[in-house]
Amino acid sequence: MTRKSQTKTRSALIVSALCTMVALATVCVYAELQKGRYQPATLGQSSQAAPSEGTPDSQYGSGAYPLYPPELEEGEGKAEVEGYCSVCHSTRYITMQPPLPAATWEAEVTKMKKTFGATIPDEATAKIIGYLKTHYTPETRKQ
Ligand code: HEC
Repeated sequence: MTRKSQTKTRSALIVSALCTMVALATVCVYAELQKGRYQPATLGQSSQAAPSEGTPDSQYGSGAYPLYPPELEEGEGKAEVEGYCSVCHSTRYITMQPPLPAATWEAEVTKMKKTFGATIPDEATAKIIGYLKTHYTPETRKQ
């Protein structure tokens, strides 16, 4: 055997050994996948439960989406707030704020109209601002 063909044979051996290793690793990873693990669990990885097997008669159900509108304070302007301020989001956006100064509420309502495009007639806008000032400022907020 020439030196050249010896080197060729050695290279072929190394390549086939590498291929065998890659094939084995693939088989191992596949086995782990079957067990529900994407990789053998090592530090920092958590194993994941295998997905449940679906059957042809499996049934899935879901209930009504739970909505818990917050209780707004009673008072003049409440109806306008509930009507106009719940078009895009829950009125919880109001109650989940900390008590805000009157000027901030006014700016909020202006932002809803100018920036987010809320269409609220001027008369209702005034009522809404009045309502928020009466019930949701640091001086007036009860709960
Ligand atoms: C046209 C849709 C729309 C209407 C109507 C609307 N909002 Fe909003 N509001 C938004 C959007 C969009 C945000 C930002 C949402 C986010 O950041 O998750 C927001 C956020 C808020 C926030 C959280 C603070 C902030 O500035 O992001 C408050 C408080 C609020 N709205 C109050 C009101 C009040 C009071 C009204 C009635 C006058 C109102 N919204 C009506 C779209 C609207």
